[in-house]
Amino acid sequence: MCQLTDRGLECRIDGTSNKEAVEKADVVVISVPYEAGLELIECLRPVLKNQIVISLVVPMKKNKWFEYTPPEEGCAALRIQRMLPGVKVVSAYHNLSYRKLCNLDLEIDADVVICSDDNDAKQVVMDLTREIHSVRPLDGGPLKESRMIESLTPFLINMAIRNGLSDLGVKFV
Ligand SMILES: NC(=O)c1ccc[n+]([C@@H]2O[C@H](COP(=O)([O-])OP(=O)(O)OC[C@H]3O[C@@H](n4cnc5c(N)ncnc54)[C@H](OP(=O)(O)O)[C@@H]3O)[C@@H](O)[C@H]2O)c1
Repeated sequence: MCQLTDRGLECRIDGTSNKEAVEKADVVVISVPYEAGLELIECLRPVLKNQIVISLVVPMKKNKWFEYTPPEEGCAALRIQRMLPGVKVVSAYHNLSYRKLCNLDLEIDADVVICSDDNDAKQVVMDLTREIHSVRPLDGGPLKESRMIESLTPFLINMAIRNGLSDLGVKFV
């Protein structure tokens, strides 16, 4: 559980069920593979009401290379918003490698594009993102723009493989 205070982000780790955690939370992060994420959201629907829901989910499959496989809504974030009418869905962190986030001393030096149809919720997530060392949040516009950042993820993974690189991110200059 994390709280944004005057002293910055303060975190504590507790164990509980997904439902109970969501009931107590102001901000919920959906960080599971796409299909599992939809099942999880379906289960959590009764307790998802006033929270901000951050999706970093990327629907993709691997044939020879990774391929973006958006749902008919256009992107995962819009699909999730359709499942959760009235909930403030924010799309972020799709292009940030977990390996980089795990290393708290690392200069990540990357941008995080954040999209939402709810500007207040987007600001909350931009403020939270500023708490991550050396990451810059950028307003990416409405939720439908999430398609752009979601589709970048398989492209970055393919480019990393092609060029013998790893954990590529995005920086706008
Ligand atoms: N990896 C990255 O660097 C990265 C970066 C940006 C965005 N993303 C996106 O973030 C999401 C998660 O990626 P990931 O690499 O963290 O995936 P992952 O390691 O395969 O899965 C993350 C967690 O999701 C849960 N999970 C997996 N399959 C499940 C299922 N069928 N039912 C219920 N829970 C399940 C598991 O939780 P338990 O351990 O509790 O079982 C697992 O620890 C994906 O949509 C991905 O596109 C990933």
